[in-house]
Amino acid sequence: MAKGGVVKHGDVNSRVGVEVIRARGVDVEKLIKMLIANAAAEFASTYYYYTILRMHLAGHEDYKEICEDARLEDRAHWELIVPRIYELGGELPNDLPAFHDQAGCEAAKLPNPPTVVNILTLLLESERCAIRSWSEVCDMTFGKDPRTYDMAARILNEEVEHEAWFIELLAHERDGKSIPSGHFRRGTPGDAPYSKNRGFYNP
Ligand SMILES: [Fe+2]
Ligand SMILES: [Fe+2]
Repeated sequence: MAKGGVVKHGDVNSRVGVEVIRARGVDVEKLIKMLIANAAAEFASTYYYYTILRMHLAGHEDYKEICEDARLEDRAHWELIVPRIYELGGELPNDLPAFHDQAGCEAAKLPNPPTVVNILTLLLESERCAIRSWSEVCDMTFGKDPRTYDMAARILNEEVEHEAWFIELLAHERDGKSIPSGHFRRGTPGDAPYSKNRGFYNP
C-alpha cells in the first residue's frame, strides 16, 4: 500500500491528484496556464470563429461539412479539457474577453476578402497551431501525468486529422492538386472519435 504523502488526512485544500504529478516533475502552475490557453484557443480562437468561416463557405457543401466537423470537434476539445483545469486546482477567468485574450492561438477571423482559398488557408494554419499547442502539453505530461497526457493525446489525434483534411481541400482548391488526407468526414457531424467526453458534457 502506498504511504501517506504531503496531503493531510481530511484536508480539502490540497490534492493527492496534484501532488503526485508535482512529485514526478510537472510544473502544475505552468500546466494549468497552458491548459487555459489551449481551452481559450479551442473555444474562442476556433470554435467561435469557425462558425463564421463555415457560413462563408456557402456554395461548397463538401467544404462546409469538413469545416463543421472541425468546428464541433474543437467544442468537444474545450469540453474535454475544462474539467481537468479545475481538477488541477485552476479555474477559468470569470471574464470572457480576458479569457479570449489568453488564447494560445490567433483568432481565426474571417479573412478579407473571404475567398474559399483564404478561408481554407486560415483553417489549415489554425489546425497547425493546435497541433503545436497540444504537442507541448503531451511533452510536458508524458510519463508524469497520465490523465492530462491521455486527454491531450486524444485531442492531438483529431487536430492531426484536421490538418490533413485542410491540406487536401486547399491543395485541391488552390493548386488543383490531389493530396489525400486519408480521411473522410465523420459519420455524424463533429463525431470526435477520440476526444468526446460522451454522456457527460456533449449533447
Ligand atoms: Fe481542437
Ligand atoms: Fe482542430
